[in-house]
Amino acid sequence: MIIAVDGPAGAGKSTVAKILAQKLGFLYIDTGAMYRALTLKAIEKNIDTKDTASLVQCAANSDIDLKVNKDGALKIFLDQKDVTAQIREPRITKLVSDISKVKGVREIMVALQRRLGQEKDSVLDGRDIGTVVFPEADRKFYIDAKFEERVRRRYKELKETGFNITMDSVASDLRNRDKIDSTREHSPLKKADDAIYIDTTDMKIKEVVESMLKEIKNEKSQIPACPAGRQILPNPK
Ligand code: DC
Repeated sequence: MIIAVDGPAGAGKSTVAKILAQKLGFLYIDTGAMYRALTLKAIEKNIDTKDTASLVQCAANSDIDLKVNKDGALKIFLDQKDVTAQIREPRITKLVSDISKVKGVREIMVALQRRLGQEKDSVLDGRDIGTVVFPEADRKFYIDAKFEERVRRRYKELKETGFNITMDSVASDLRNRDKIDSTREHSPLKKADDAIYIDTTDMKIKEVVESMLKEIKNEKSQIPACPAGRQILPNPK
């Protein structure tokens, strides 16, 4: 079974996708972490974000893997090295959208994501899971929240991790990534027509997860369905 969870940064999708996977006993595949790992490698190799040929070659020559350790935490490996913490650094966040918009890079990442997802029942979170990676997913969700709330959540998360950032820098990063991720030519961030839209702005994590579980189990949930075909774009401010 494949559960697709898409949406913009800071909407809470990785938090709920992770819990959902735990509750269902499924593999959690954080596809954003894969693009982040590649971005780290491109930075280490001094590849310019405009040098698409080198970026694609770098992706083809990278070994990116996700493993769950014995405490249940997801670890990201780049060429056998644990890069879980490094890929969250602001220098990665700043460039990841530019690197993930490259067609050839996406083709390599999507192939890897499909291979991982086909091995085991999985919950995948990202931007294009329901539209491109697994258009036949058993359940699709689009997780959204108001821009200000997404900034607040991301700021809190980064502060708690120990990064020295300001609310303004987080807002500017989210605005920039929203724009690149949702307007890029290849597989832009977009709600799949058959995805269930959830606005998490005023919802607790527990409520979101419970609603998703009900949907997965075919029980009636309180989530209002989004009109088919409507594209939910982040709320630029
Ligand atoms: O989920 P995240 O913020 O860690 O993702 C980092 C970036 O990776 C995001 O800004 C766009 C890109 N991404 C993507 O293009 N497609 C995905 N399926 C997941 C992430």
